Amino acid sequence: MTDVVAFDDVLIKALREAKNVVFFTGAGASAESGIPTFRSGADGLWGDFDMEDYATSEGFTRNPKKVWQWYRDRRQDMADLQPNTAHNVIARWQKKASNVTVITQNIDNFHQDAGSDHVIELHGNIHQFKCLNDHPVVASSVNTLDEPPLCEICGSLVRPDVVWFNEPLPQEAFEHAEMFSRESSVFVAVGCSMDVYPAAFLPAFAASSGAYLIQINPEVSAFDKYAHTLRGKAGEVLPQLWLAVWGEVFS
Ligand code: OAD
Repeated sequence: MTDVVAFDDVLIKALREAKNVVFFTGAGASAESGIPTFRSGADGLWGDFDMEDYATSEGFTRNPKKVWQWYRDRRQDMADLQPNTAHNVIARWQKKASNVTVITQNIDNFHQDAGSDHVIELHGNIHQFKCLNDHPVVASSVNTLDEPPLCEICGSLVRPDVVWFNEPLPQEAFEHAEMFSRESSVFVAVGCSMDVYPAAFLPAFAASSGAYLIQINPEVSAFDKYAHTLRGKAGEVLPQLWLAVWGEVFS
């Protein structure tokens, strides 16, 4: 359980007066929904599963059915889970302040499910599909299949529309993320290890234009030395931050 957080006056003032705010989220933002993170201790996904097998195009080429079924199982696990308080606070913040951009590395769609209407997804979305030649594929026609089908346009294998290691990020998403980060006056990283690039460049873009950097994380991360750290779980710290900034209890 996260203790009550003592907020610095400068931080609260920065958030209240911010021209533009970015919330940048990683796996830690969905941890309290029950989705495992990638690198947190023994429970991290990349501790149990070899990322070379499950998150590279080479792994998919070696064993398409195994990779396809792993993502299908993750979708089925997610079907029983819901956005948590962290997603809800961020969605409400976006409605209250109208100058808030949500940029996420997560593929679970929980920001949208919580009501955020403009979400920049840097690593794709596990509920969407494309073929190896990038033709989009309608999710409802493939998402429950036991093995990857072939694209109706080009005959190549269908895969989840997520970014794997060594693949470029979706160009437009990254360009927008860079632009909003550079324009932000406060940049809040929630549940990010900052181990994965190019996403982890975004706080540097924000800092280069003078943004106030905040992170919410119960553990030490690579971002500790650059950001004002609010030590605790996202779903516990964010409602406290909401109260401190807006003077109302989040409910
Ligand atoms: P990681 O698993 O690398 O890091 C999760 C971070 O969340 C860690 O710093 C944890 O301490 C923190 N954390 C855990 N529980 C939390 C909570 N309740 N509240 C707040 N923070 C919490 O996840 P990401 O940084 O998202 O990429 O990883 C980035 C990318 O690496 C992912 O998008 C994925 C992965 O490989 C791809 O698949 C391309």
